[in-house]
Amino acid sequence: MSSNETAVVLKQVIEGRRTIGKVKPESPPRELIEQVLDAATWAPNHRLTEPWRFVVLTGQAREALGWFMGEQNAARHPAGSAEADADRERGARKALRAPVVIAIGVEPGVKDELDEIEEIAAVSAAAQNMLLTAHALGLGAKWSSGAIIHDPAVKQWLGLSERGALLGFIYIGYPDMTSERSVRTPIEQFTDWRGWDESGA
Ligand SMILES: Cc1cc2nc3c(=O)[nH]c(=O)nc-3n(C[C@H](O)[C@H](O)[C@H](O)COP(=O)(O)O)c2cc1C
Repeated sequence: MSSNETAVVLKQVIEGRRTIGKVKPESPPRELIEQVLDAATWAPNHRLTEPWRFVVLTGQAREALGWFMGEQNAARHPAGSAEADADRERGARKALRAPVVIAIGVEPGVKDELDEIEEIAAVSAAAQNMLLTAHALGLGAKWSSGAIIHDPAVKQWLGLSERGALLGFIYIGYPDMTSERSVRTPIEQFTDWRGWDESGA
């Protein structure tokens, strides 16, 4: 494949990926999930500290996650209230919306706290690799965060240290929805070109 053809395919994958919030209940085979995880580890990463951590939750493990999510939701309301019960159930259902849920953690491999932003950036790049690979494999995925990512009990349950961070969960399955082509603002809006014309490049 020529480099131009590669770029065309890559653009198709990048632009064709959409957040897929509705997936079928049947689980993709483990080999596909392994491919998604493997792609994550090829992300750029300063000093190659490999700060990504993954917890793959399926079956009953998703129910345990749902329990945590439900409890966190309920805690926002007066104990025992109808709102607490409804929000608890909503949280619990969330974890069951895909057959495979992957928690995306960051475990900083650097001592200097100033460098932690690099570790989060590396794991974010890893997560995008996962989303693109899932899309290329015909899977649907949604990266979801919310207040739960700050819950110390959830972080601990997922095996993350106090310094570690939870970037969210990627919900994966076979797509059960069609998605519209998304729209993005042209690059001019966000780009300040400096020196380009003068250099003749
Ligand atoms: C870090 C991160 C957290 C996200 N959290 C949520 C979330 O909690 N709930 C949600 O509906 N979508 C969440 N999303 C998905 C975005 O809403 C979605 O990417 C956005 O609507 C653009 O759509 P697209 O992914 O189809 O391009 C998250 C995306 C990222 C990158």
